Amino acid sequence: DVIDIRTLGKHGVYTYDPGFMSTAACNSNITFIDGEQGLLYHRGYPIEELAEHCDYLEVAYLLMHGELPNAAEKQQFTDTITGSTMLHDQLSNIFRGFRRDAHPMAVMVGVVGSLSAFYFDSMDILNPKHREISAHRLLAKVPTIAAWSYKYNIGQPFMYPQNHLNYAENFMYMMFATPCEQYVPNPVLAKAFERILILHADHEQNASTSTVRLVGSSGANPFACISAGIASLWGPAHGGANEATLNMLEEIGDVSRIGEFINRAKDKSDSFRLMGFGHRVYRNMDPRAAIMRKTCHEVLDVLGLNNDPMFKLALALEKIALEDEYFVSRKLYPNVDFYSGIVMRAMGIPNSMFTAIFALARTAGWIAQWSEMHSDPEAKIGRPRQLYTGSAKRSFVELNKR
Ligand code: ACO
Repeated sequence: DVIDIRTLGKHGVYTYDPGFMSTAACNSNITFIDGEQGLLYHRGYPIEELAEHCDYLEVAYLLMHGELPNAAEKQQFTDTITGSTMLHDQLSNIFRGFRRDAHPMAVMVGVVGSLSAFYFDSMDILNPKHREISAHRLLAKVPTIAAWSYKYNIGQPFMYPQNHLNYAENFMYMMFATPCEQYVPNPVLAKAFERILILHADHEQNASTSTVRLVGSSGANPFACISAGIASLWGPAHGGANEATLNMLEEIGDVSRIGEFINRAKDKSDSFRLMGFGHRVYRNMDPRAAIMRKTCHEVLDVLGLNNDPMFKLALALEKIALEDEYFVSRKLYPNVDFYSGIVMRAMGIPNSMFTAIFALARTAGWIAQWSEMHSDPEAKIGRPRQLYTGSAKRSFVELNKR
């Protein structure tokens, strides 16, 4: 029989919490956020300290293992990841099956999902060793997949990973180098890029991480889980916001039109939102945004782009929104993606790659959360219930009588 919500008391009690605003779906030791105070800690370490002192692979190790590595552990982890960055040669054929003008995120969803057709020797999720091997493979191969999605897009040859470069530099190499000339990553830009990776590495149970956990809770293989996470991240309300921010700035076009767009963002009859502003959890400045804001100014200085019209427009929008009563009263601050979008644009990265870079950074968090779930004896298959609001029971009507 249909369960009518009006008779729900007879069938048990459900928590109705659209958007999971106040529902904890798991225990986790990985990341702590206090949105009111603007705090973000990984395994107890403030994000400010990690961004200042660590490289990305150290942060990835911390997320996955619970402790910062010592020197020997760091070297071994770095060697393992560096030694796994190549893709199976047959995978290049998968890229070639896509349209050249496909969005890099669309290609990433497909290629990362297809890893389960190549690396199925590490997919026994009940075996901790297999889980670790898959985690390493994902951390190592997702940057190669992201960079190749871009190369395929622009019609340039795929560039193979370079083991003497660090994680951030190697990605820049695979994206920007060509076989025709020597490519040496600019150290300031490589540092800024590494910071983007660190700041996006994990953020507890956001939409994409919850997706990874939910997909993984059925016992699905790790490559399918991360592919699902990438698909979830692509949405403009989540990781797609960095690309949407730059697209919006291009649409605004000139400082003189900021007022018009601010008014549209306030107008409840208009679905337009100011991209790069607001956050579900932070009701204070996102600590990652504060760090990225500083990096953003450093990068614009180094590249001499302070007077570039696009960046002047971004900084003018930031100033106006931070002073506007609508944004102030709702505690809508620029989020990390507002600034990371500007930094990536200044580095010459096209808008279409912004979310792909977010995905490669977040891979560390996704696999740490996925591994944690599988080590948790209390973990169950995710199966939310609903409050049924449809029709009550009725009798079937023959086609000729409808
Ligand atoms: N522009 C204009 N108004 C906004 C914005 C915005 N960017 N964000 C929120 N608001 C308003 C809402 O209209 C609402 O107003 P009301 O109280 O008058 O109805 C109020 O602020 C609260 O907004 P909610 O929608 O309840 O906030 P929620 O927590 O559901 O949404 C979200 C958070 C999705 C991030 C939202 O702020 C948004 O859409 N921002 C733009 C997209 C973006 O930048 N996303 C990146 C998120 S960060 C990340 O993924 C790393």
